[in-house]
Amino acid sequence: MTKPRAPKPSRALWSGRFASGPADSLREVGDSLRFDRRLVRHDLRASAAHAAMLGARRIIPAKDAKALVAELRRMDAEIEAGKLRVEGPDEDVHSWIERTLTERLGDAGRRVHTARSRNDQVATAFRLWVRDEAVQFVATDIPALQRALVQQADAVMGVVVPAYTHLQRGQPVLLSHQLLAYVEMLARDAERMIRVMDACSVLPLGSGAATGVPYPIDRAAVARSLACDVSRNSMDSVSDRDFAVEYLAALSLLQAHLSRLAEDVCLWASSEWRLLELGDEVSTGSSIMPQKRNPDGAELTRGKSGRVFGHLAAMLTTLKGLPMTYNRDLQEDKEAVFDATDTVRSCVLVMADTVARSRFREESAGALLARGHLLATELADHLVRGGLPFRDAHEAVGALVRELDGRGKDLSEMDERSLARIDPRFRGCAAALDPKTAVDRRAHAGGTATKQVASELRRWKRELSAQAGASGA
Ligand code: ARG
Repeated sequence: MTKPRAPKPSRALWSGRFASGPADSLREVGDSLRFDRRLVRHDLRASAAHAAMLGARRIIPAKDAKALVAELRRMDAEIEAGKLRVEGPDEDVHSWIERTLTERLGDAGRRVHTARSRNDQVATAFRLWVRDEAVQFVATDIPALQRALVQQADAVMGVVVPAYTHLQRGQPVLLSHQLLAYVEMLARDAERMIRVMDACSVLPLGSGAATGVPYPIDRAAVARSLACDVSRNSMDSVSDRDFAVEYLAALSLLQAHLSRLAEDVCLWASSEWRLLELGDEVSTGSSIMPQKRNPDGAELTRGKSGRVFGHLAAMLTTLKGLPMTYNRDLQEDKEAVFDATDTVRSCVLVMADTVARSRFREESAGALLARGHLLATELADHLVRGGLPFRDAHEAVGALVRELDGRGKDLSEMDERSLARIDPRFRGCAAALDPKTAVDRRAHAGGTATKQVASELRRWKRELSAQAGASGA
């Protein structure tokens, strides 16, 4: 076997003042083409906007600008078609673009870097990249999971399960209400992503290395063609990555929500709950225990959270001690953001599949309601309706629960008459002993009453289908 060899170094963009190239160790730690090639299409777009502006302002010959714009677009199309691959000995994607342009165009290619620096170039391409990923989360990925949840909420409408606090059975709730809780969380995740899109829509290009450039550039024109506003301070715009922090924070919260849903899926699918039957496509078996059906997609989603949150902490750490302005430390922004993006996206999609391709066993819901004195609060509220102060009612029902526990009974096994024998104040409490009634009494906004949840379900169906129409999904 022959040992794989690193590509021969090409001349760096900055090689003029050096007699020799960088040591292998420096290239190893510094070269970024293997990962920043993911920015290539955004950099090509920004470079074309920049070149067009250089021509329009006669900063470079108009015919060179024309050739540059045409070639940058051609490269973009070739990459899209899989005909051009971003590879070679170049230090980074920006060097690759300039080398490729120069090989194709000669001197015109050597003019593309007029009035810009890699510092404003990379800050621009990276913002545009993050913006497009945020768009995909908002328009496609998050709604896919929301749709799966809404579909299940629809399918199990009317099924009553315990709502838990402290992982102890608390009160009856519609399972649909719980599923829609996740739809709400995801809606806020999408809103956060929209704010990230705004943070990314600020153009650093024109900031040069740090102080601006001594040419009559037209930043507004470049910004317009990239759908951005012009950044207001060159030092700030080449050196901050707060947009990346905001994006990683948005991804982290999204991942935290996915992870909570994943935990619920694991519980529901467990032999203890038996509430969710995982579809074959979204469960795995055991190599030794033939009967197993495991929720691996959900577990991996939960397990990958640390890695996403870690990228947020890493990005903040990279930024915290940086002197103004650009420092090479900033190159660490990309792998964090790329990996967090890929990880969260794959988790959203696997959770969407897991929810969509599993089935809730309605027949298990009854067993879940049978233990945990789920209607104790209802009974207390019944006493309150009879005029007792809530604290006294709480104590009365607390004493009852203690008594039932002593007899090994659950409140769900009791009827009005047997309760009235224990404490006459429970007379007339029959309605308080019905889980469905308990659910339907919570008919205010945000409550779990059937009417209320049905109306929320209709609203979400409307919103998601309007959005699918708008985004062509
Ligand atoms: N690869 C670099 C990065 O991602 C590009 C900017 C390099 N600028 C410089 N002055 N070395 O940050």
